[in-house]
Amino acid sequence: MQEGQETYLWWQTGVVYQIYPRSFQDSNSDGVGDLRGIIQRLDYLKWLGIDAVWLSPIYPSPMADYGYDISDYRGIHPLFGTEADFDELLREVHSRGMKLILDLVPNHTSDQHPWFLESRSSRDNPKRNWYIWCDPLPDGSVPNNWLSVFGGPAWEWDESTQQYYYHAFLKEQPDLNWRNPEVQQAMLDVMRFWLDKGVDGFRVDVMWHMIKDEQFRDNPVNPDYQAHMATYEQLLPVYSTDQPEVHDIVRQMRNVLDGYNERMMIGEIYLPIQKLVTYYGIDGKGAHLPFNFQLLSLPWDARQIASAIDQYEGALPPNGWPNWVLGNHDQPRITSRVGMQQARVAAMLLLTLRGTPTIYYGDEICMRDVPIPFEEVQDPQGLNMPDKNLSRDPARTPMQWDDSPNAGFTDAKPWLRLAANYSRENVAVQRNNDLSMLSLYRRLIDLRRNEPALQVGTYTPVYSDMNLVAFKREAEGHDSFLIVLNLSHRPGYFRPQHFPFSGTVEMATYPESEGVSVSDALNLSGDEGLIIRLH
Ligand code: GLC
Repeated sequence: MQEGQETYLWWQTGVVYQIYPRSFQDSNSDGVGDLRGIIQRLDYLKWLGIDAVWLSPIYPSPMADYGYDISDYRGIHPLFGTEADFDELLREVHSRGMKLILDLVPNHTSDQHPWFLESRSSRDNPKRNWYIWCDPLPDGSVPNNWLSVFGGPAWEWDESTQQYYYHAFLKEQPDLNWRNPEVQQAMLDVMRFWLDKGVDGFRVDVMWHMIKDEQFRDNPVNPDYQAHMATYEQLLPVYSTDQPEVHDIVRQMRNVLDGYNERMMIGEIYLPIQKLVTYYGIDGKGAHLPFNFQLLSLPWDARQIASAIDQYEGALPPNGWPNWVLGNHDQPRITSRVGMQQARVAAMLLLTLRGTPTIYYGDEICMRDVPIPFEEVQDPQGLNMPDKNLSRDPARTPMQWDDSPNAGFTDAKPWLRLAANYSRENVAVQRNNDLSMLSLYRRLIDLRRNEPALQVGTYTPVYSDMNLVAFKREAEGHDSFLIVLNLSHRPGYFRPQHFPFSGTVEMATYPESEGVSVSDALNLSGDEGLIIRLH
């Protein structure tokens, strides 16, 4: 929906919350979160003001990559519950006026998926061409230089059929051949299966990986590679990702969604802005929200963040609805990247920018990355490159609900250890503290919901310097807001030459500033963020 139009869809006005199901709430004492656990906590999400819940994968899986290696696209992993539990979850989400978004992982299956078992069984199996099989080079070596995101070559030798198969991730995650129309139909049918059940949308895993160069050309070397980086970064994935034909696939997926009422698709895409925005598709018939990861990729620097926001706003196609993300299950938590105080400013930024915000579970209570001892590491990315500190486990630890044993997450041994400080930092404690991160998130979400300027209004950059980012949000016929954020720990002085203003501080990261009348100049403390209702 464009500015000036009066109705906006739920995924434009709403706030999305990502649940990593293994770590949200255990209901059956096995130390792993599950669907019934999520049902128990839905009232919390409603209280927080969440509109849509995105679940990381809950399907049957050998768990080589913790559910991103799927062996049945239409089932529920027994660890998480039953199909009946899922149906109940969907009903309970809907009965609270919320939406449910599932993770769709179309780029690859598990190597235990029946499709792959068939495909690898012989060269003339009808499903052989469902995956990417290549002959070795004459000397027996891999077909090209492509690397796996999780370390090592992206090709795995199959002894019995004497060919290599391609896997962008683990060898237990063979890539599907999306050039094959049968694969396309099979996965579109998976989408229909969940949409028919009433699921509201999908977060599509590694959307930019789905089509690879037809000639399998070598990727060029990355001249900026440094030893601390993942080995995958040694090459630029010019031929293995982001191929033009991927947009035809995205369009087909979109067509399926458009056959239903108000369903949507988020694309997981790590690409620079100019390329990212192409995933909105021609005439906006691609992904509804290509995930915008700039706030988690860029250094936390006011000038870089301000210019990235403006570039992104400028690059959006007509009708392209923006979105913002501070964290997910693959990245260090925001609190660990920028610190506790700055995480409050980051929350204010996330919830005052134009576009749909996605909150990663636990960020609303300031959860930090938890140090997981080497012998407890679970994540294959961490295990495969042990010296590079790339394990994603620290950001996947159990939700901290209260100060009871295991933080109320489980009464068994949790699959991943909890933060040592959970008895001090948890939902129960923070709910009762007006100054907590949780209270800040809840108030920000509430303000956003009640103020059209913040929810759907226009964005205008006002000012930025070494410390500050300032912008204005406006909607015709409603109050306007000036947001001034100090992204540094030092005082920041806001005296824009050409922007006279007066207003009242509606919300602040420090309570002392709230309710204060301000005009034309502001002196901000380090780590201070202000939302000013303009007069
Ligand atoms: C996506 C997921 C990540 C997973 C990978 C392979 O990036 O977010 O967790 O490991 O895809 O499926």
